[in-house]
Amino acid sequence: MRLHALTWPFLALTVAAEDGSKAWLRYAPVRCNRSCQKTLPSHITILNANKTSPIFTAAEELQDGLHGIAGKHVAITRGCNAPPSSILVATVSDYLVCNGTTVPDDVLSLDEDGFYLHTHGASATILGQNARGALYGAFEYLSLLAQGDFATLSNTSQTSNPHAPIRWVNQWDNMDGSIERGYAGPSIFFASGKIVDDLSRAREYARLLASVRINAIIVNNVNANATLLSAENMDGLARLADVMRSYGVAIGISLNFASPQTFGGLDTYDPLDESVIAWWENVTDELYARIPDLAGYLVKASSEGQPGPDAYNRTLAEGANLFARALQPHGGVLMFRAFVYDHHISEEHWKNDRANAAVDFFKPLDGKFEENVIVQIKYGPIDFQVREPVSPLFANLRKTNVAIELQVTQEYLGQQDHLVYLPPLWKTITDFDLRVDNASSPVRDIISGEHFSRPLGGWAAVVNVGTNTTWLGSHLALSNLYAYGRLAWDPTLDPETILDTWTRLTFSAHPRVLETVNTLSMTSWPAYENYTGNLGIQTLTDILYTHYGPNPASQDGNGWGQWMRADGDTIGMDRTVWNGTGFSGQYPAQVASVYEDLDTTPDDLLLWFHHVPYTYVLKSEKSVIQHFYDAHYAGAQAADAFVDQWDSLKPLVDKRRFEEIRRRFVYQAGHAVVWRDAVTSFYHNLSGIADQHDRVGHHPWRIEAEDMTLDGYVRYTVSPFETASRAFAVVTETNSTTGSASATVPFADGVYDLVVNYYDLYGGHSQWKVYLNEKLVGSWKGDMEDTLGHNPSIYIDGHSATRIRFRKVKVRTGDKVRIVGVPDGTEPAPLDYVAFLPRGIVD
Ligand SMILES: *[C@@H]1O[C@H](CO)[C@@H](O)[C@H](O)[C@H]1NC(C)=O
Ligand SMILES: *[C@@H]1O[C@H](CO)[C@@H](O)[C@H](O)[C@H]1NC(C)=O
Ligand SMILES: *[C@@H]1O[C@H](CO)[C@@H](O)[C@H](O)[C@H]1NC(C)=O
Ligand SMILES: *[C@@H]1O[C@H](CO)[C@@H](O)[C@H](O)[C@H]1NC(C)=O
Ligand SMILES: *[C@@H]1O[C@H](CO)[C@@H](O)[C@H](O)[C@H]1NC(C)=O
Ligand SMILES: *[C@@H]1O[C@H](CO)[C@@H](O)[C@H](O)[C@H]1NC(C)=O
Ligand SMILES: *[C@@H]1O[C@H](CO)[C@@H](O)[C@H](O)[C@H]1NC(C)=O
Ligand SMILES: *[C@@H]1O[C@H](CO)[C@@H](O)[C@H](O)[C@H]1NC(C)=O
Ligand SMILES: *[C@@H]1O[C@H](CO)[C@@H](O)[C@H](O)[C@H]1NC(C)=O
Ligand SMILES: *[C@@H]1O[C@H](CO)[C@@H](O)[C@H](O)[C@H]1NC(C)=O
Ligand SMILES: *[C@@H]1O[C@H](CO)[C@@H](O)[C@H](O)[C@H]1NC(C)=O
Ligand SMILES: *[C@@H]1O[C@H](CO)[C@@H](O)[C@H](O)[C@H]1NC(C)=O
Repeated sequence: MRLHALTWPFLALTVAAEDGSKAWLRYAPVRCNRSCQKTLPSHITILNANKTSPIFTAAEELQDGLHGIAGKHVAITRGCNAPPSSILVATVSDYLVCNGTTVPDDVLSLDEDGFYLHTHGASATILGQNARGALYGAFEYLSLLAQGDFATLSNTSQTSNPHAPIRWVNQWDNMDGSIERGYAGPSIFFASGKIVDDLSRAREYARLLASVRINAIIVNNVNANATLLSAENMDGLARLADVMRSYGVAIGISLNFASPQTFGGLDTYDPLDESVIAWWENVTDELYARIPDLAGYLVKASSEGQPGPDAYNRTLAEGANLFARALQPHGGVLMFRAFVYDHHISEEHWKNDRANAAVDFFKPLDGKFEENVIVQIKYGPIDFQVREPVSPLFANLRKTNVAIELQVTQEYLGQQDHLVYLPPLWKTITDFDLRVDNASSPVRDIISGEHFSRPLGGWAAVVNVGTNTTWLGSHLALSNLYAYGRLAWDPTLDPETILDTWTRLTFSAHPRVLETVNTLSMTSWPAYENYTGNLGIQTLTDILYTHYGPNPASQDGNGWGQWMRADGDTIGMDRTVWNGTGFSGQYPAQVASVYEDLDTTPDDLLLWFHHVPYTYVLKSEKSVIQHFYDAHYAGAQAADAFVDQWDSLKPLVDKRRFEEIRRRFVYQAGHAVVWRDAVTSFYHNLSGIADQHDRVGHHPWRIEAEDMTLDGYVRYTVSPFETASRAFAVVTETNSTTGSASATVPFADGVYDLVVNYYDLYGGHSQWKVYLNEKLVGSWKGDMEDTLGHNPSIYIDGHSATRIRFRKVKVRTGDKVRIVGVPDGTEPAPLDYVAFLPRGIVD
């Protein structure tokens, strides 16, 4: 253990290596001064709890936490006679049996999963509406303790109720152990078609979820495999449910609509067929026999090639109700995804629009769903883009339960290799006032069920943790999971307050740590939006491949409908009623009129709703194209600054996490320049309009690899062209012979950052060395496919484009720079350019 010679009292005392697996529940020591000592209880008392109850778990967590955080060992006792200085943990009903005295009214009327936390000196009473709620109260107590907030800890009285009953996470885990859109290694639940034997990570995951008050998890991919329903797998699911139940997390599963036929051997999966109905009833009964508290099912039907009721000319409601009715006797819930659209529409027709699909399909079915169906709606009408308007479906289902679907896994948002703190984005949706009937109707009140007086509703987020010790592949990305749970419980919380709490728990309460993590995180989404896709044009990634790096052209010209209709003069989707796809008319009148009109549409959604010339002048008084240029340069500059900002925390963060996070920021800074250059070159080329500041297409500090003296390297035309500087790279002549590229440095004597852009593909670990006057400056390997989490590419493109920087290299005019590349496997040591950057230049 290394101690810092700092006076800050709450600096975590352990600066030993941490692998991230404890996330925000590290229970790291805080200095326990006199006021802290006075808050420490001598006993933990639980009422009426067996070992599988979350009440017992709460006692164990309190015991571990008090020991870890304050160094005090506290014994667990049971029964009604709590000794003095006890933390008492119980359900309200058990407490009342023990103690006839009245409790406050708001404790008697707690909502399901709600809790009451009352402390006085070293005594605490933690009561849950149910056992799960009591566990939430215990985690709240521990959070105060771990943050060193002794004033609150010794003197608080609070009741806390959830915003909505549904607070779920979805995992897109496949039965073979892979995870769709997962960036942190294989599944913690499945391998080789079965539920894994060792469920210790599943237990730890349940712990994290419970601590942020998530009450259920769908464990398998929405693109579901029916073999999950075998008797053996049902037994496996029961084991999993047992493990997660002790943390109050119920499990549910995704179903494949065609299972009765593909797995059950029936000759149909028609939802109205008696044999199909009986088949699903039996499956459901079998599951509930093993898992009495199964949360329910999630179904993706008639969507992106998944089977559904349309195969039998049945409505989506008839499809959903099939499962809902089978679940009703058991109290289960059916989450039915609204992500239904035709992915073969033609861009030829100006009025075609995938964004219209959800309302077109679901609005006519309003009121036709069973009471235990919840329609699960992605936050925007397309697909988890960097910015979208709210899905208008939330305003159009008055007689149907709804939930919002968010993504913690950063599919279109940098795949955990770019830092993007998501709550500010989520807030643009959940705080949005849809003006239903011209009255206040924020999305958060619709999804809670409150606005339309629905019995059910809430939140789902696709999380996709994997076996990686960091859970999501990146330490900092975990703030998104933490914040998701907190917001699902209370969407009025402020993203910065949530973040600061997370930082205190994850790193330390040192003011510099708090301030820096706050600045980095709060800048991250605006920066990412700036360098990936502005003005509502969506994330300009490769939608046909990995959803990671830049490829603007992939948006148009295919049936997937993530169009932007960019040509030489104009860009944007005309979604107006008067002349376009009519999408804006799906909103209530007051919102529709804002988006219908070019003048009232906010700049950040302009191209989502309108088709305009590149020269169209925004409210900011810039043209669309100049905004693109400026934003991309500003975003890349912001990402570049992240490295130095993080570096300032070196003395304050344990070495392992410091280095792992640093590596990602260095990578992100480089990839942000790749994004910037690709998107600005693409539109510069398409529009022919110059950048007012002359940056686009001018890179005075670069030496293009194709212009260097090549020996064993040959010129290579990169596709898409904009993902290489000047469209060319070089590759080794064969994939077993070394290449060398050299040039004379034309720049003035001085100290420069030496940057090399190269391509790191899946398929090999090439090695590069860079020399100045034959003196080695640095060397590296193309192994990012193993060391970073994003979906790797097998091509030389915007996903594989990577950059490395050697700082403060002394250079004299006429020096010889030489890069040697040794190919490996199918990776031909590709090189794009070398740059010598004077201080302060990001290029
Ligand atoms: C103990 O630490 C807390 C938190 O810094 C501080 O507010 C309090 O004044 C300290 N109390 C004593 C007795 O030192
Ligand atoms: C233990 O508690 C759980 C719920 O808290 C209950 O479902 C279960 O029946 C109890 N088991 C025993 C053996 O009492
Ligand atoms: C019962 O309630 C009274 C009044 O709230 C309190 O003083 C007493 O400590 C309680 N007993 C237990 C076992 O919690
Ligand atoms: C406890 O908190 C209340 C309200 O926050 C405050 O009025 C009271 O003085 C506090 N009591 C002690 C002993 O600090
Ligand atoms: C479903 O799982 C089985 C067993 O693991 C596997 O053989 C099959 O390929 C899977 N089907 C799909 C469509 O992934
Ligand atoms: C009910 O489901 C179980 C488990 O999948 C299976 O073994 C049984 O054959 C099914 N019974 C009927 C009548 O389909
Ligand atoms: C599908 O059902 C609708 C109404 O239930 C009916 O009007 C239509 O003819 C049916 N189409 C086919 C192809 O069966
Ligand atoms: C809502 O307000 C708009 C004007 O903002 C008005 O045209 C419309 O009639 C109102 N609708 C209702 C239902 O009051
Ligand atoms: C109206 O729609 C047509 C296509 O039908 C399009 O060419 C034209 O640019 C649009 N007009 C405006 C003002 O957006
Ligand atoms: C994003 O770009 C806009 C427009 O250039 C700029 O005003 C803003 O400061 C940028 N923010 C970040 C974080 O890059
Ligand atoms: C976790 O993932 C990162 C890449 O995302 C990788 O560098 C690291 O080796 C992985 N660690 C484990 C234990 O899987
Ligand atoms: C060299 O690359 C080609 C394809 O580019 C591939 O077929 C071949 O297997 C590679 N050789 C080695 C040794 O990997």
